[in-house]
Amino acid sequence: MKIWLDGGLQDIDSARVSVLDHGLTVGDGIFETMKAADGRPFALTRHLDRLTRSARGLGLPDPDHEEIRRACAAVLEANPMPLGRLRLTYTGGHGPLGSDRGDRGTTLVVALGETAPRPDSTAVITVPWTRNERGALAGLKTTSYAENVVALARAREHGASEALFANTVGQLCEGTGSNVFVVLDGEIHTPPLASGCLAGITRALTVEWTGAKETELPLDVLERAEEVFLTSTLRDVQAVHRIDDRELPGAPGPVTAKAMRIFAERAADDLDP
Ligand SMILES: Cc1ncc(COP(=O)(O)O)c(C=O)c1O
Repeated sequence: MKIWLDGGLQDIDSARVSVLDHGLTVGDGIFETMKAADGRPFALTRHLDRLTRSARGLGLPDPDHEEIRRACAAVLEANPMPLGRLRLTYTGGHGPLGSDRGDRGTTLVVALGETAPRPDSTAVITVPWTRNERGALAGLKTTSYAENVVALARAREHGASEALFANTVGQLCEGTGSNVFVVLDGEIHTPPLASGCLAGITRALTVEWTGAKETELPLDVLERAEEVFLTSTLRDVQAVHRIDDRELPGAPGPVTAKAMRIFAERAADDLDP
């Protein structure tokens, strides 16, 4: 398995970054996860644009899109697989032991892992911890993801694949690695970006392609929504068949099934929408 590090391809078993990399010591880094079917990345331009927004939010230098495009192409070519998770990680680089950043330049890693197509529906839980919509990292895709690690582990303990958060004022926000949509009176709604959720690329495409509305929603909307679905790079549009103890028999329901179909068709039409 080959990855990209320090400007070229390296063997994954011997590739090394500093043990003092600020991404490791304090989570001072950002990332993107892309889907690559048959070696072709989906929505690369949108992912690069979000990487730049995250970099600016953290005060990291703008990432070099040309280098990253070359890196993605090289990694995909070196590791052929039917369905891959292409992961860009960009950190503050070698730094001091505290929160001050060093001055020796950033670290860029592009890696690829094999993944399987997701099931059409899944179970989720809600968790008591909140997303901070007013935090310095709100809306940024940073490597400070340990809160998501804890929440996802809780979900796994309950036989679920995702945990949903409310924000600090009790509004529905997002999952550990996905955005959430609900169907109310036959119409699709998703929390606005002001809720503190990540500007998911699958979310944006789903809003664009289905006409879903961005609506502030209380967390307990999950107790009465007719249908619920998740969106993310590796889930696309995925129905929810259980939320905590509430079963949603027949998921995907008709509105979700239609959104899944539209997403699949439009994504197949254009690899970089
Ligand atoms: C916290 C969070 N929310 C939402 C998403 C979904 O975003 P995307 O559709 O761009 O994968 C992700 C991405 O994995 C995420 O990490």
